[in-house]
Amino acid sequence: MSVILQVTDLKKTFRLGSESIHALDGVSMEVHAGEFVVIMGASGSGKSTLLHLIGGLDLPTSGQIAIEGEDIASMSDRKRTLFRRSRLGVVFQSFNLLPTLSAVENVTLPALIGGSRNGDMHSHARDLLDSVDMGHRMSHRPQALSGGEQQRVAIARALLNDPALLLADEPTGNLDSHHAEAIWTLLRGLVDKQNRTVIAVTHEPIGARFADRIVVLKDGKIVGAINDSRKLDASLVATRYTELAR
Ligand SMILES: Nc1ncnc2c1ncn2[C@@H]1O[C@H](COP(=O)(O)OP(=O)(O)OP(=O)(O)O)[C@@H](O)[C@H]1O
Ligand SMILES: [Mg+2]
Repeated sequence: MSVILQVTDLKKTFRLGSESIHALDGVSMEVHAGEFVVIMGASGSGKSTLLHLIGGLDLPTSGQIAIEGEDIASMSDRKRTLFRRSRLGVVFQSFNLLPTLSAVENVTLPALIGGSRNGDMHSHARDLLDSVDMGHRMSHRPQALSGGEQQRVAIARALLNDPALLLADEPTGNLDSHHAEAIWTLLRGLVDKQNRTVIAVTHEPIGARFADRIVVLKDGKIVGAINDSRKLDASLVATRYTELAR
C-alpha cells in the first residue's frame, strides 16, 4: 500500500518566557493509504500538536511531514494553505458549524470560499451527507441537530475536497457514549467503504479499538503501538495502552 504520510523526527518546542516546552520530541511515523490510525496519550502528551502539524495548521521546530510525498513543513505559507484546503480534511471536538447555515450549506461553505461553483458543490455535498447518514437532515440548522449529527455534518464538510487524509482531534469528546460509538463506526466505514485514510486522536479505548493501529504518545515521543487493536475489546485496549503509557 502506498505511503500517504511520512513524519520524520518531528520536533515542536513552545517557548513561554524563559521556559521551553518540548511538545513533540522526535516523532517519526508512517501512515498508508486506507489505514485508520488512532493516536492515544495522556493530556499534554502532544497529540493535538502532532495532529495540527500534520494538518498544516502550525509549523514544526524541525523535522519533515511528507503528505503524498510533499513536505508541508518546507512549503511557503501560501502553498501550505492551498495544499491544506485541497488535500486535508480536519475535524475537531467542537463541531465549528455556522449556526445560521443549514447542514448542506455548512458542508459547501469552505468550497465556495475556495472559489468552487455552488451548483457542482451542492450535489456533492448532498451525496456526502447521505454517506454519513444525514440525508434526512440536509436543511436543518446546527441548533436543530444533536451533537452526533453535528459532528456528521462536520465530517461531511471535511470530506468535500476528497482529502488524502482525514484528521480528527477527539471527534467524540463532546458526545455521549452512544453518539460517540456511532461516530467511530462512521469513521471505520469511511475507511472500509470509501477507502479513506483517517488519523484520529482520542482518550477513549472504546473508540480506539475501531482503528487498525493505535500509536501511543508520551511526553512528546512515541512509546509504542498496538497493532491488533481491532481484535481487542475496549478493556484489553485500555490495559495495553496503560502498560505502554506508564
Ligand atoms: N501554543 C502553545 N504554547 C505553549 N505551550 C503549548 C502550546 N500548545 C501546546 N502546548 C503545550 O504542549 C504540550 C502538548 O500539548 P497538546 O495540546 O499537544 O497535548 P494533548 O496531548 O493534545 O493534550 P489533551 O489530551 O489535553 O488535549 C502541553 O504541555 C501543552 O501545554
Ligand atoms: Mg489535545
